[in-house]
Amino acid sequence: MEKTNELYRGKAKTVYETSDPDRLILHFRNDTSAFDGEKVAQLDRKGMVNNKFNAFIMQKLEEAGIPTQVDRLISDDEALVKRLEMLPIECVVRNIAAGSICRRLGVEEGLTLNPPTFEFFLKNDELHDPMINEYHIRSFGWGEDEHIEQMKKLTFQVNDVLKALFDEAGLLLVDYKLEFGLYKGEIVLGDEFTPDGCRLWDKETRQKLDKDRFRQGLGGVVEAYEEVAHRLNVPLD
Ligand code: TMP
Ligand code: ASP
Repeated sequence: MEKTNELYRGKAKTVYETSDPDRLILHFRNDTSAFDGEKVAQLDRKGMVNNKFNAFIMQKLEEAGIPTQVDRLISDDEALVKRLEMLPIECVVRNIAAGSICRRLGVEEGLTLNPPTFEFFLKNDELHDPMINEYHIRSFGWGEDEHIEQMKKLTFQVNDVLKALFDEAGLLLVDYKLEFGLYKGEIVLGDEFTPDGCRLWDKETRQKLDKDRFRQGLGGVVEAYEEVAHRLNVPLD
């Protein structure tokens, strides 16, 4: 499948149309951004690692019955995906407190959240991705009741599948963000699942192995992503 024209350039991925109106190509770039695009850098190998990591995770989710956008890898840093009509919403599940919930609610990083908590955010960099609720989604027409229910259900299903997968690799799935879209009227998981959009800690040492290394200037960002990929047996070469 050939790229025809560029449809959208995000902070870390570029989306291309193809000759098939139902298929897009996602190009995972080396660009890395944090704080709504305020901090940016080019990190060697990151596009390749995230592309292969994402395809591996999405395949595991498909096997568990969760519909995803990914068809297949087409190069080191590109994947062929279904064309979704994306909802401008981020779905976040947290198993352990970290990041914005600590700032908003004044809780200590590392607190176990039992049961895990769920939050919706509006995908809007200029507004700094404000937290929203189901009433906002309905009132502003960002999604319908059945979409909201399906996004919550699928996001928690992802937690069951991935908590177990990461646990076997000696990792704690602290939190993660998912984005969904519509394909022929059905809610399907889109965007990506990579260490750019989740928090992963070593189970024993609680060492951070995700984008917090970039946000917090800890260094060894791609090395940490590769360590996670290696522990999960994601084929990188
Ligand atoms: P937060 O603690 O900043 O709210 O982030 C929660 C999780 O969602 C964390 O794993 C990072 C991820 N996330 C993104 O991937 N992109 C975003 O724009 C935001 C706000 C969070
Ligand atoms: N994804 C957002 C950005 O790139 C927020 C973040 O990950 O910190 O700016």
